[in-house]
This record gives sequence, structure tokens and C-alpha cells, in this order.
Amino acid sequence: MSKKVLVTRIIPGIAEDMLKQAGFDVTVWQGDRAMTKDELTQYARQANILLSLGSNKLDRSFFETCKHLEIVSQFAVGFDNIDVAAATDYKIPVCNTPDVLSEATADVAFALMINVSRKMFYHHKLIQKGEWKQFEPLKNLGFELTGKTLGIFGLGRIGSIMAQRCKGAYGMKVIYHNRTRNPKAETELGAQYVDFNTLLRDSDILSVHSALTDETKGLFNKQAFAKMKTTAVFINTSRGAVHNEADLIEALQNGTIWGAGLDVTNPEPMQATNPLLEMSSVAVLPHIGSATVEARTGMARLAAENIISYYQTGKPVTIVNPTVLIP
Ligand code: GLV
Repeated sequence: MSKKVLVTRIIPGIAEDMLKQAGFDVTVWQGDRAMTKDELTQYARQANILLSLGSNKLDRSFFETCKHLEIVSQFAVGFDNIDVAAATDYKIPVCNTPDVLSEATADVAFALMINVSRKMFYHHKLIQKGEWKQFEPLKNLGFELTGKTLGIFGLGRIGSIMAQRCKGAYGMKVIYHNRTRNPKAETELGAQYVDFNTLLRDSDILSVHSALTDETKGLFNKQAFAKMKTTAVFINTSRGAVHNEADLIEALQNGTIWGAGLDVTNPEPMQATNPLLEMSSVAVLPHIGSATVEARTGMARLAAENIISYYQTGKPVTIVNPTVLIP
């Protein structure tokens, strides 16, 4: 009998096509919102395989109820919505979609940096409000990026592309802080490893590309912002929970740092009344890092490939908890 795959949201059709062609029985949840926990549990009970999104909370209680699942293939690179330890306890492989969205996400970080440095979102809003009256010699000046220092927190695939863009376009010096060093980036980009305090102290642009973990949660808080340059820009395209948003608002209001560019907020969605939206040197986007046709198609393809490869070869392409494969 065919294995049953539950896809928790409508995603690019290539995933369904590939899975059906490989003989899977595919159900795609048709709602235009994330499934509730009850809906997810109810549907997942009938499935062998879950193709999940970041908006599905797969916690320990979910895996206790759905320990029959044979594999979880997530349509995202981040998997902080999944209790991977619980999945591992039940020997369920968890897969994600790295690489295919790296260019798209790095583009958003790069665009936010430029936009903030020239207060572009703010100027756009001024025109909409009918406030473009005349040439202003001294108002709302930005700054130039040439020769500035880019600090990357979490120099992996996305961070490396951001660093490459910044080096190529502006000759920026690249410093980084990671849990483990990245020798490839050190050789290829001349990236210099520094401790966390040095990263805070020396970055003109500090761009976050790390995963959300117990160690990174809330790391960019009042104390961290206080160590940054008053001229610095904070960019976050990873997960909103890596920064403390109340502390970020305060740091911007007090002039502790100069600006911020966010593609992820804490919480999401951001409320329309959030003071960050009124600040001249802030640009906020609604978590669109991977929102290109190319990236989303690549994510759908890889999410399907992970499932197909697991059943055909015993090994998914990109697995997060490889220990479950050890017999
Ligand atoms: C998006 O945020 C992802 O993790 O893919």
C-alpha cells in the first residue's frame, strides 16, 4: 500500500507531483492558514509522513501522539518549531531545506542594509504622506557603506553569501562570530573570527544569520546593544526571537545604536502599531527571506526529495538528526 504524505499547506506543486510520481499518496491541507494543533494531530494520525512548515509547532506532545510518523520533512531551513530531541527519541528523521534559499535570504539582508543606511522605507512613507516639499540639505542623511565593517553572527551558508555581496559591492571588512570557526569563509572571504564582545564592538553593520537555539534566544538584548557602536545597524533575517524587541526599540530610541533592518520580528506577525515602523532608520519586512519563485520551488523540490530518497535509499538528502539512521 502507498505511504501517505500529509503536506500541511499549499506549496509549489512540484512537491506533490514528485511524490505522486514516486508512488506516494499525497494529501495537501487546503487552508490558507497554518493548521491548528488539533487539525494537525487529527490529519497526521492518518499519515505516515509529514511535510511540515515552520508555522507547525511539532513539540514533544505532538510526537507522543504521532510517534507512528516515519519521517518529517520540513519546507524551511530553520527547524526551531520542531522538538528534534523528541523526534529523535521516537527515531523519526527530521529534514530541512538548506542551500536552496540562501541566495534569496542573503539578498534580503543586503537590501535591508542598504535601505536602512539611506532611510529608504522612511523616505517612501514621507512621499505617501505628501511630505516631499523641497530639497533638504541636512535632513535625514544616511551613511555610505564603502569600507565599513560587516559583522556576521552565524557565518554559515546565508551569512557567507551576505559577506560575499558586501565585500564585492563595498569592499567591506568581514568579521564573524560562530559556535565553530568557518575555515572556508576565512580563506575565501578573508573573514576574521572574533569573540562575541568584539563582534558587538567593531561591527558597523551587524547581521544575524544564526539558528534559533537555547544559546541564541534573546542574545541581542539591552546589554548587547549597549556594547555596539552608536552608529551601528542591526540586521536580523534569521529568527525574531534571537533579539529582544523591547530592548531593540529602546536602543534605537535612546540612540544606543543607529538603525535596524528586520525580516523577522519578535513576535510575528508584527503589529501595525509597533514603534519600529515609525523610525526613520528602520526597515521591516514580513519574513520574506525565501519568498522568490526560485527559492520556494527549490524548497518544495528538496522537501519531496528528502522523502523519496529516504524510502528509496534509506537516507534523506538533508537530515537534521542523522543519528536516527544508525540501526
Ligand atoms: C525561513 O525562515 C526558513 O527557515 O526557511
